[in-house]
Amino acid sequence: MVIRPLDARSSTERELVARRMRLTLEEVLGIERGRAMYTLEWLRERVDLHLEQGAVFLAQDELGRIAGHTILRVEPEEGLFSTTYVDPAFRRRSVARQLVRRGEDWLRGQGARLAATYTDESNYGLQQLFLGLGYGLQPRPDAFVRLFKCLESGSGL
Ligand SMILES: CC(C)(COP(=O)(O)OP(=O)(O)OC[C@H]1O[C@@H](n2cnc3c(N)ncnc32)[C@H](O)[C@@H]1OP(=O)(O)O)[C@@H](O)C(=O)NCCC(=O)NCCS
Repeated sequence: MVIRPLDARSSTERELVARRMRLTLEEVLGIERGRAMYTLEWLRERVDLHLEQGAVFLAQDELGRIAGHTILRVEPEEGLFSTTYVDPAFRRRSVARQLVRRGEDWLRGQGARLAATYTDESNYGLQQLFLGLGYGLQPRPDAFVRLFKCLESGSGL
């Protein structure tokens, strides 16, 4: 598995990630709520925005298949994993773990001292992924949780 930046010249890769952003919402929030949240056009614009102002990394296997992605940006307070998704056929093979580690390296390179992500409080898999990478978990009043880690020491493990 290779972790590499999305090729911004590839409309196929941009479209794939936009569609998988929608699948993420559907999986985490349920099909009806997830689909109603954002149009595909809006998600495409989000991909392009992150290509311009943040980073999009893809996990690609030896056959060229895109197994997953993570999307990041630097906010004033923290480096943010906006969304991370792995195709069900590739899950529990450390794909997301590799994507997050690559994302942390990128955030460090951007000077971010803190990495964070937000997800629904019911998203056990994502929480376990980030907890296993040394993140702390902070419940929030809005049914989301924040997972966060100091990047200065290089690793929270
Ligand atoms: C969450 C997600 C990204 C994990 O991807 P993955 O490639 O399967 O994760 P990894 O194989 O790298 O898992 C690393 C560790 O995280 C934990 N983990 C991952 N998925 C888990 C799950 N479903 N249940 C419990 N622990 C899980 C485990 O500790 C795992 O290590 P192990 O397999 O050695 O036990 C993937 O399930 C996914 O895309 N889910 C839907 C999208 C989503 O929720 N995205 C986040 C939106 S904010």
